[in-house]
Amino acid sequence: MIPDAPAAEAGTLTAAPSTPMDALVIRGGRKLSGRAEISGAKNAALPVMAATLLAPGVHTLHNFPLLSDTRTMARVLEQLGARVEFRDRVCRIDTSNVDSVEAPYDLVRTMRASIYLLARFGAARVSLPGGCAWGPRPVNLHIEGLQAMGASLEIDHGYIVGSDVKLHGATFDFEIVSVGATAQLMMAATLAEGTTVLENVAIEPDITALGDVLIRCGARIEGLGTRRLAIHGVRQLKPIDTHIIPDRIEAATFLAAAAITGSGIALQRCEAGDVAAVMHKLEETGCQILPDSPRVTIAGPVRPGAVNIKTAPFPGFPTDMQAQMMAVCAIAEGTSVITDTIYVDRFTHVPELVRLGADIRLEQNTAIVKGVPRLQGAPVMATDIRASAALVLAALVADGETRISRIYHLDRGYEALDEKLSKLGADVQRVQE
Ligand code: UD1
Repeated sequence: MIPDAPAAEAGTLTAAPSTPMDALVIRGGRKLSGRAEISGAKNAALPVMAATLLAPGVHTLHNFPLLSDTRTMARVLEQLGARVEFRDRVCRIDTSNVDSVEAPYDLVRTMRASIYLLARFGAARVSLPGGCAWGPRPVNLHIEGLQAMGASLEIDHGYIVGSDVKLHGATFDFEIVSVGATAQLMMAATLAEGTTVLENVAIEPDITALGDVLIRCGARIEGLGTRRLAIHGVRQLKPIDTHIIPDRIEAATFLAAAAITGSGIALQRCEAGDVAAVMHKLEETGCQILPDSPRVTIAGPVRPGAVNIKTAPFPGFPTDMQAQMMAVCAIAEGTSVITDTIYVDRFTHVPELVRLGADIRLEQNTAIVKGVPRLQGAPVMATDIRASAALVLAALVADGETRISRIYHLDRGYEALDEKLSKLGADVQRVQE
């Protein structure tokens, strides 16, 4: 079991889980300096955790990020009969005795990644994941893809119910690029009978990392890193022993922190290629960046310049950095135009940034951000993972004190962001409300 409140490990940072009552109090105006170490990626860890169900045995995940989302996934796996242990950044998952196939709603509703459980079980009962703060997040591609492979799935009173059939190879062409559905079908195809061809797949680093892991476990996958995958089903897979890749969104958030505060910092364990789109935009704002993977150094400008951003699947600008870049643009010189093409309602951070003095107008899925010279501290509310990070960034430069409540959203996806920022010199405190 992953403990709720792990003892701090020597030389590492461990995030104690937040309660809904936790808040961050940030006093803005400090420059940042020093080094931040990037944690393992949430979006890589979650599918790999689900993939442990594909091979009974003991799996070892190094550089494992201790987040509330990975804890929730651990609980889901335990509910299915797995044993999960965490120590010194290593997560061990024993799936030898997994027999149950029902993922309960109270766990699944907090975490969409539970839908990956469908990849292992023909007969499964997985609660339909709910929507997000920024609107519905459909799973039709997961279902249609699995059905093309012979799965018999029905929606019944909020659950996806499948009956026990052996999956077979199929050709599935994604009408839109989907990270989640690509991971789902890739996993399912590894043990299906025959060859599965997936067209127009996602090529996000998390997907490539998952494919690499599966290949090392014995899966036969061709075309990894391209838009077309051919997966030849095998009879069985070996247990996983892997390192979780560094979190590109956490790294990009620290780069944005340097940009907004005009500071110089260095990131350890940062894959520059994974954050190239964000680095290019930050360079356009006036940042100087020296990529030398696995280390990236950045020097922020006195005041960032405005930039235009449109989110797109990898290698485009990630939707997961849209909110944080909006915080940078809020104090930029000039007007920035930011469009989210992936999730068109993902703008819950806008009214909160406006409370801090930002000048932002929304026109459908586009935000027009007129940079202001200064922001002012105020009480604000976190609404989702990346929106929370945007508020933290804005608070780092706002005059006076900003109190960000409902910080449990931040803890779903960032490992000890407050501690890491404090170490860089920011004035950040976690308080109970
Ligand atoms: C998306 C992001 C991912 C990010 C995550 C959380 C992309 C391509 N994906 O991944 O980088 O980490 O949000 O912020 O940028 N869709 C369907 N039907 C489905 C599945 C998805 O219509 O069955 C649509 C979604 O509504 C969305 C698009 O496909 O417009 C991409 O979604 P998808 O990549 O699956 O979402 P996530 O896996 O959550």
